[in-house]
Amino acid sequence: MIIAANWKMNPPLAEAGALAAAYAGATFNGVTRVLFPPAPYLVQMAMRLDGSGILLGGQDCHQAVSGAHTGDVSAAMLASCGAGMVLIGHSERREAHGESDGLVAAKAGTALAEGLSVMICVGETLDQREAGDAEAVVTAQLDGSVPDGISADRLMLAYEPVWAIGTGKVAGVEEISDMHGAIRSWLAGRGLRGVPVLYGGSVKPDNADAIFAVADVDGALVGGASLKAADFDAICAAGTRAAAARG
Ligand code: 13P
Repeated sequence: MIIAANWKMNPPLAEAGALAAAYAGATFNGVTRVLFPPAPYLVQMAMRLDGSGILLGGQDCHQAVSGAHTGDVSAAMLASCGAGMVLIGHSERREAHGESDGLVAAKAGTALAEGLSVMICVGETLDQREAGDAEAVVTAQLDGSVPDGISADRLMLAYEPVWAIGTGKVAGVEEISDMHGAIRSWLAGRGLRGVPVLYGGSVKPDNADAIFAVADVDGALVGGASLKAADFDAICAAGTRAAAARG
């Protein structure tokens, strides 16, 4: 099980250090943890997490290798600050920054070339789900966002229904199961086996066990609940239970 914390644009640095130290102070069998902190915190978080086994990633990168891109961060910069991976195509970037599938694929290609692994996010809006288009939308996002020829061991996917992010509304286990099954079929069609598929969207300590009981769910991408060490730890403990149950 892979449990990833996406801190988004939180918390203040003084709290971030204590939060990372709290993560590092716990261990969970059968669970790989990943932290996606704000980019300016990466170096400090790398020091805090040293020896903990927790992996570090950036929340985004630019598609160019370097150059005149004020305010942007390159994949190589993330790597040099201690990140081994990068989150790409989060719905908040697709929406607020107008990121297209093509841009997501370009960013992923650059990140891979710079030696990072990528966690690519996909997910439908509520309108799209209510119109019965959820699977078609997600499949089209995968077609456009996952670079051709990517190797399975450098890729993770996160299914995050937009309507479940930060809303307290979690997708039902059947919805999650159907979509993760569809994503798994898409991966098989591309010859990509063993790619972890995480669920994200209002994962909390009280729903993590039910979500992790879904066979095709390989972990979670956690936003709000990752900002409290006790909640993140409780979700990781659910991951340990799920890993044990799967043997
Ligand atoms: P929440 O867990 O706050 O719903 O956020 C999910 C998310 O967007 C993780 O990337």
